[in-house]
Amino acid sequence: MDKELLKKRAGEKAAEWIEDGMLVGLGTGSTVYYFIEKLIHLCKEGLNITVVSSSIRSFEQAQKGGIPTANMNTVTQIDITIDGADEIDCQKRMIKGGGGALLREKILANSSKEMVVIVDESKVVEKLGKRALPVEILPFGYSATIEKIQVLGFRGEMRTTNEGKFYITDNGNYIYDILFQELRESPEEDHDRLIHVPGVLETGFFFNLAGRVLIGESSGNLKQLDK
Ligand code: 5RP
Repeated sequence: MDKELLKKRAGEKAAEWIEDGMLVGLGTGSTVYYFIEKLIHLCKEGLNITVVSSSIRSFEQAQKGGIPTANMNTVTQIDITIDGADEIDCQKRMIKGGGGALLREKILANSSKEMVVIVDESKVVEKLGKRALPVEILPFGYSATIEKIQVLGFRGEMRTTNEGKFYITDNGNYIYDILFQELRESPEEDHDRLIHVPGVLETGFFFNLAGRVLIGESSGNLKQLDK
């Protein structure tokens, strides 16, 4: 089955879990896109919710679709956040940030009663680390920050735009994509080492945050992992 259809199925199923009165966190990415489209539809039919967003992109999609939005600066707790992932293992540890929104996504997930993860089956892995690990870094002194990351034994590349300029996150920062030589035995240790480098704002490792997970399988089945 077509991957886009798998993403759409997972996104639309997650929308069924949204209830009247909820404050909903919007993740970012092509899978979340389908979730937001379904939410727009449900809101037009009378669903009464408010959303906060992890990116300008998701915010604009929701706002254009007429979903009431709230400013995250006025919020301390979100009822449910729906987000995608670049990789997820059987302990629900994830790599996120392929879409560049990792820092805001982690703030939303961490402020939510539940983070629901929606993926197609290509994202499910035995061990994390095949895909790049995005690390959001402060532009100030970025060369020194990268040097420190490299001294720790990590190698990677600055994320760039199609025009060859540094990619800038919604927070005005850069992303350094770490390319691992081997699959990760202990991603928690990797995270701990990276997060202590001054200038590193966040890594794309997400631990102990995912609740229910919806996996669109190529057989057409939608697999659900419970909280
Ligand atoms: C954005 C993310 C996305 O959730 C992740 O990249 C998955 O995206 P997609 O659903 O497009 O595959 O972390 O920062």
